[in-house]
Amino acid sequence: MTVYWAPLNKGHTSPHLAECSSWPPSDSMAFPAGFGWGASTAAYQVEGGWDADGKGPSVWDTFTHQGGERVFKNQTGDVACGSYTLWEEDLKCIKQLGLTHYRFSLSWSRLLPDGTTGFINQKGIDYYNKIIDDLLANGVMPIVTLYHFDLPQALENKGGWLSEAIVESFDKYARFCFSTFGDRVKQWITINEPNIFALLAYDLGIFPPGIPHIGTGGYQAAHNLIKAHARSWHSYNSLFRREQKGMVSLAIFAPWVEPADPNSVSDQEAAKRAIAFSLDFFAKPIFTDGDYPEVVKSQIAFMSKKQGYPSSRLPEFTEEEKRMIKGTADFFALNYYTTCLVKYQENKKGELGFLQDVEIEIFPDPSWISLGWIYMVPWGIRKLLKYIKDTYNNPVIYITENGFSQGDPASLDDTQRWEYFRQTFQELFKAIQLDKVNLKIYCAWTLLDNFEWNYGYNKRFGLFHVDFEDPARPRVPYTSAKEYAKIIQNNGLEEHL
Ligand code: BGC
Repeated sequence: MTVYWAPLNKGHTSPHLAECSSWPPSDSMAFPAGFGWGASTAAYQVEGGWDADGKGPSVWDTFTHQGGERVFKNQTGDVACGSYTLWEEDLKCIKQLGLTHYRFSLSWSRLLPDGTTGFINQKGIDYYNKIIDDLLANGVMPIVTLYHFDLPQALENKGGWLSEAIVESFDKYARFCFSTFGDRVKQWITINEPNIFALLAYDLGIFPPGIPHIGTGGYQAAHNLIKAHARSWHSYNSLFRREQKGMVSLAIFAPWVEPADPNSVSDQEAAKRAIAFSLDFFAKPIFTDGDYPEVVKSQIAFMSKKQGYPSSRLPEFTEEEKRMIKGTADFFALNYYTTCLVKYQENKKGELGFLQDVEIEIFPDPSWISLGWIYMVPWGIRKLLKYIKDTYNNPVIYITENGFSQGDPASLDDTQRWEYFRQTFQELFKAIQLDKVNLKIYCAWTLLDNFEWNYGYNKRFGLFHVDFEDPARPRVPYTSAKEYAKIIQNNGLEEHL
């Protein structure tokens, strides 16, 4: 899905990794007591029931129904895993794994069909109440995402995330969700991957609404996404926190990035810029001072000038907005999938584009195993966690997504994929034990094979296989599910490194 961070295959050597001398430890790799083990899903990817019981259309309904091969074989999420009617089957999977946490998202237009509280769909409330209550009855903590790419179409018609009016609409929706579900939900994610979403939906136009605004739309949407997140955090803080005692953050997608040539100063700078334009673009305003990284501002201003724009294509926050934005996250939520190498690529002609603004080229090391756009680089997650710890004052971190896909048809014996998960857990163990990273929860992406955005059902990220040809949508565990259940039961790996 995350095409812009999908490196092109070019030849380069692996960065050398120094290991700590006190390693390996004598005990097995047991995680700290109380560590959270979860799995994640998102409404449009699993629910189906696209127009059931009063649900309003979302932009993904419109986009997929338009066809045009923008999604693999013009597939849609109309039925997907059928979780709208088959929630109990999902719960069985959750129990089979022994999850302590389950992250899912609310469909805005299932709750508020036209995006506003003018009309509230009780059937939507009932559906999510049941999920939340069933989870809690089974000792599973819900982590709830308010927004995972599926804007109500009615709001897109009013300009969507390009319009500043969305900030108010999102805040009202968030308040509605906090007041309806916040007595039981204590961990909230406002927005999933605003960085990926802004770029794919409003810059490249690969996601709905499908209209490219290269070089401008992504920044405009990102600006509004940050403000919407911050506003809703303040709403929680002032209206709900005292009584509900929950936590609110947003989930940021970030790859780890290494300079292609570790001895080249320009590649080192390029790697820093890549992180500034991905993770820090959102994390710095929200976790530190309310404003974008300096290098992001100067780079975009420089390119804009070169291209003849009267001012920078990156909008500016007012001083009041900066004060409103800073400090609006109660934990750091990270979605990590892959690592890439980057190299300085001068934008001599001043071309418009995201990578052109960053002036980088991205590609993998040829030794890295790839399945799709994800390169199997488990050590990248440890480096990224350490970077977050050092840059953002040692926050509590949740990994809200991490996973690996299989093509279709997929083998139930997904040994290679399990190897990726297993090595990832080793790296998380090292991050906690050796780097003292404050990691509290890990959520695998994803519970079930599901609608993988532009790839349709052709990429399978699930712990459980779903047969999309069978109306009953049977869920069958992959080897990874069985192995993950053992990890959860042991609270870590039994093995020694
Ligand atoms: C998104 C998911 C998606 C996954 C795999 C993440 O960036 O949040 O919705 O399915 O990547 O591509």
